[in-house]
Amino acid sequence: MDPRLETLRTQAPGLVDDADSLEALDAVEQQVVGRASPIAEIRRGLGQLPAEERPIVGRAVKEVADEIAVLVDRRRSVLEDEAETALLAADAVDLTVPMDERATGTHHLITSTIDEIVDIFVGLGYRVADGPEVETGWYNFDALNTPADHPARAESDTLYVDFGEPEDEMLLRTQTSPMQARYMQDHDPPVHVVVPGRVFRNETLDATHSPVFHQVEGLAVDTDITFGDLKGTLEHFAREFFGPSTGTRFRPHFFPFTEPSAEVDVTCFGCDGSGCKVCGGPGWVEVLGCGMVDPAVFDAVGYDSAGVTGFAFGMGVERMAMARHGLTHIRHLWENDLRVLGQFR
Ligand code: DAH
Repeated sequence: MDPRLETLRTQAPGLVDDADSLEALDAVEQQVVGRASPIAEIRRGLGQLPAEERPIVGRAVKEVADEIAVLVDRRRSVLEDEAETALLAADAVDLTVPMDERATGTHHLITSTIDEIVDIFVGLGYRVADGPEVETGWYNFDALNTPADHPARAESDTLYVDFGEPEDEMLLRTQTSPMQARYMQDHDPPVHVVVPGRVFRNETLDATHSPVFHQVEGLAVDTDITFGDLKGTLEHFAREFFGPSTGTRFRPHFFPFTEPSAEVDVTCFGCDGSGCKVCGGPGWVEVLGCGMVDPAVFDAVGYDSAGVTGFAFGMGVERMAMARHGLTHIRHLWENDLRVLGQFR
């Protein structure tokens, strides 16, 4: 056998085994069987050999070339497996790596408070309505038995858009109560409705007041509604909203559109009655106004005031949220600081 073939045959297995990457193996393959290899050289010289030697040398070359091809193939599949394993290991998702929490939005506390209040009344069979924020003087005041010289109508309390006669007088509604009149004009009794909405007052911002805030109005009208129904409804509401052990207290009050009228206090959430920063000491928090609808209001909207009775109530949403969560400044609801809002998911 050609000594070059002998050398190749002894060296090739070592060279192939030493190739530690697919690229290195390609280079070894070039070296041992490629164009510049002894095998190629011998093949190129076959023509010059005597005719009887040609098949012998040719067969020997082929034998060695085949042997090497098998070695190279075997090594290649080993290296390919290793490469794939390494790739998979590098690509693997490590499920133990801590992830950044993705920021998700939530309902604003004012929105979720409105939803909760409204839901409680929907559970009692009430409808939900809404109405205009820019209102006439007639709906905001006159229809609600509030005469032209009532102090609430002064510019010091009400934000006017346009002055004029009550029907032309345009203002930012100071309460959701005008929807009582609008709703009764559009619906015959019996009526059970709640009206959430935004209201406006010429007021300086302090810990518990804001010139813009929200109310939920309620109105129930039928032939035989009593103050007992009013008390029972609002006591149920207070227990649902503030918790089952919540106490309520009805204090006589005055509103032009209800007679008799009351303000309702609930036992303080912050201290359960012993006195704290939330209630300012007494253990009670005032949360809403209410009363039996004044017959003058029924007359104004065209209801038969001799044939129906009803109760109405109105509550401040911000005040409810503050009482419930122990917030001590209304600005926490308006500043929209995510650190604050995020606590009410
Ligand atoms: N509108 C009143 C206010 O803004 C709240 C209110 C009191 C509404 C008594 C009512 C009611 O419906 O009967 O202060």
